[in-house]
Amino acid sequence: MIPHYYQHFCPVKILSGHNAVSNIPFELDILGCKRAMIVTDKGVVGAGLINIVREAFSDSDREIGYIFDETPPDSSNRLVNKLAKLFEKQKCDCFVAVGGGSALDTAKGANIVISEGTDDILKLQGNEIIKADLFPMIAVPTTAGTGSEATKVAVIYNEEKNTKMAFVSDRLYPRVAVLDSRMTMTVPPRLTAATGMDALTHAVEAYTCLQKNPIDDIFARAAIELVRKYLVRATENGRDEEARLGMANASLFAGIAFSNSMVGMVHALAHACGGVCHVPHGLANAILLPHGLEYNIASVPQYIAELSGMLGGSIEYMEVRDQAMVTVSLVKNLLSRLNRISGIPMRLRDAGVSEDKLPAIARGAVNDGALAFNPAEVSYEEALEVLKQAF
Ligand SMILES: NC(=O)c1ccc[n+]([C@@H]2O[C@H](COP(=O)([O-])OP(=O)(O)OC[C@H]3O[C@@H](n4cnc5c(N)ncnc54)[C@H](O)[C@@H]3O)[C@@H](O)[C@H]2O)c1
Ligand SMILES: [Fe+2]
Repeated sequence: MIPHYYQHFCPVKILSGHNAVSNIPFELDILGCKRAMIVTDKGVVGAGLINIVREAFSDSDREIGYIFDETPPDSSNRLVNKLAKLFEKQKCDCFVAVGGGSALDTAKGANIVISEGTDDILKLQGNEIIKADLFPMIAVPTTAGTGSEATKVAVIYNEEKNTKMAFVSDRLYPRVAVLDSRMTMTVPPRLTAATGMDALTHAVEAYTCLQKNPIDDIFARAAIELVRKYLVRATENGRDEEARLGMANASLFAGIAFSNSMVGMVHALAHACGGVCHVPHGLANAILLPHGLEYNIASVPQYIAELSGMLGGSIEYMEVRDQAMVTVSLVKNLLSRLNRISGIPMRLRDAGVSEDKLPAIARGAVNDGALAFNPAEVSYEEALEVLKQAF
């Protein structure tokens, strides 16, 4: 069904290939940039991935101005303020972010601070608050999950309030997304599984949420089919180039879908798990996805039923609600298969959450912006009940 109104926007140039990183200097040339600030973290440097980027720059006239490798898991307000100062001091004119969602969002956050000429990102919270043109950014994801390389979102941890804040603006889209299979081959199995489930959650929530639309449905569907084909393969064998590039594409497609449609209750709960108990984002989504889907069946059974076909289920002649329950089972099966291969936890209690924290997580979730797009309303008590089921 075509909604009464929808809009779709994705201004990101996409390079995808087994050696795509080598094209970065050429892309900087097109963007008119000379001196890049590389934003990354110690894990990415330790995996040898910055050497691949350095090599790409070595026979070009573009230069690496500075390599900032202090991104922590989850970028924070204080860190992006600090990075903004460094960018100016080092006289860089663009960002090349190389890492998972944390590094990509750190670059986005610092870019907001510099371009808006503010001293503190907390002054710019909210939707479409950013008015300045940002410095060009090239995003090189090294995990296949967040889709941040193709989204208008930066998720920044608020160190003052222990919450995760989402900055949302059309200006936050990177100019170029570079998907290169070499950049994700070093991701360990458990992180491959968790980040892949983040991508699946983006696609599933984009397909079932209130802002769903025909264009994002296409991206969500393509993402889910790629996850079905490649996530187990990439988790089993990290050196599988085809599976790695397949998952990188899945993550990007899901990012395009949710950047327009937005997400829902699974992300609201996952953000709160991250804020209260520091559960990694992908892992929280992986655990909560089947529970969130089951909760939403009462509101959008048809959409959830349709997902079962994309996930490989055979549903001929079934009632819609039964089909929707097949979807929930298929997601649970996928999680338990990933658990057997990689040890990824399947319950919140095994992911660093203690039972006494569930009320604080439920409170955080009902105040999270993602909940506004969920197809069903979720009260504090209902959020707590879903968390108990996932505990
Ligand atoms: N902006 C968006 O649209 C968006 C969407 C979803 C999530 N997020 C945010 O992204 C963050 C999570 O990102 P993430 O799941 O990609 O994890 P991450 O960026 O926090 O990285 C997790 C760990 O993996 C390591 N790592 C990354 N790539 C590696 C590689 N190729 N080889 C070996 N180790 C590697 C890192 O060093 C780090 O220790 C959260 O803050 C979340 O809120 C943003
Ligand atoms: Fe996510």
